[in-house]
Amino acid sequence: MSITDTEAAVSPAADDSVVRVEGLSKSFGDHEVLRDIDLRIGANEFVALLGRSGGGKSTLLRLLEGIDTDYEGTVLVPERRSVVFQEPRLLPWLRVWQNVTLGLTGSTEALKKRAVDVLGEVGLERHAGTWPATLSGGEAQRVGLARALIREPDLLLLDEPFGALDALTKLRSHALLRELVRIHRPGVFLITHDVDEAISLADRIVVLDGGRFVLDLIVPFDDDSDELQLTLQRIKRDILAALGVEWEPAHEA
Ligand SMILES: Nc1ncnc2c1ncn2[C@@H]1O[C@H](COP(=O)(O)OP(=O)(O)OP(=O)(O)O)[C@@H](O)[C@H]1O
Ligand SMILES: [Mg+2]
Repeated sequence: MSITDTEAAVSPAADDSVVRVEGLSKSFGDHEVLRDIDLRIGANEFVALLGRSGGGKSTLLRLLEGIDTDYEGTVLVPERRSVVFQEPRLLPWLRVWQNVTLGLTGSTEALKKRAVDVLGEVGLERHAGTWPATLSGGEAQRVGLARALIREPDLLLLDEPFGALDALTKLRSHALLRELVRIHRPGVFLITHDVDEAISLADRIVVLDGGRFVLDLIVPFDDDSDELQLTLQRIKRDILAALGVEWEPAHEA
């Protein structure tokens, strides 16, 4: 895997990071949104980003995506990166499988076969030939995931991908994402407003506030022990405190 500057190609990274951000600052006019931040995401590492609305999360994601190249500092990302947004952004005039392969080259037959395979991974094989308008919100979002995965990204960027889903569909989507990440092993950068989502999916959680990371913590491995539950509750309290919310776990009487 090669890692490239979002503006110019550079030599491969010496370590196994898929993202290397150093001294990154970003302003819109005189509004400084990101202030001298550093971030590394290891190959196969799942990092969740939380922060207040308007705090600069999507701005950071756009810099990692390479869409916005107007910044100060260093942003190194792999060439193969995919993005999923809160809205699935499917083209209504293309069938589901064509949305999945949009922008890829190859024979129609080969592309369709690849699309059907990856749609199978998200449980939508039988929808390959249908129109996006016939899909539910959760299904459309899974097509978005399929479209991201077919590119076999080294870095998967997710901007509140489950934000618009109902609670049950959200939980199902978490399980699906966990499984897909286990199989495909990309580095993942997930923006979310849902602290429980971040804790249940990520290896590491960072909190952005005032243009800087105010918290960066590792989520312990999920093994269902009582002690682990207490640690996770403490982590949740610390994250919420960093977000300016007071919260204490409910204690049993
Ligand atoms: N193209 C732009 N021009 C000017 N200001 C912008 C632009 N894009 C974003 N901003 C400003 O930068 C700040 C950060 O926006 P951003 O979209 O990154 O926030 P966010 O953390 O993703 O918020 P949310 O949680 O609501 O999605 C906001 O104040 C926003 O108004
Ligand atoms: Mg945003």
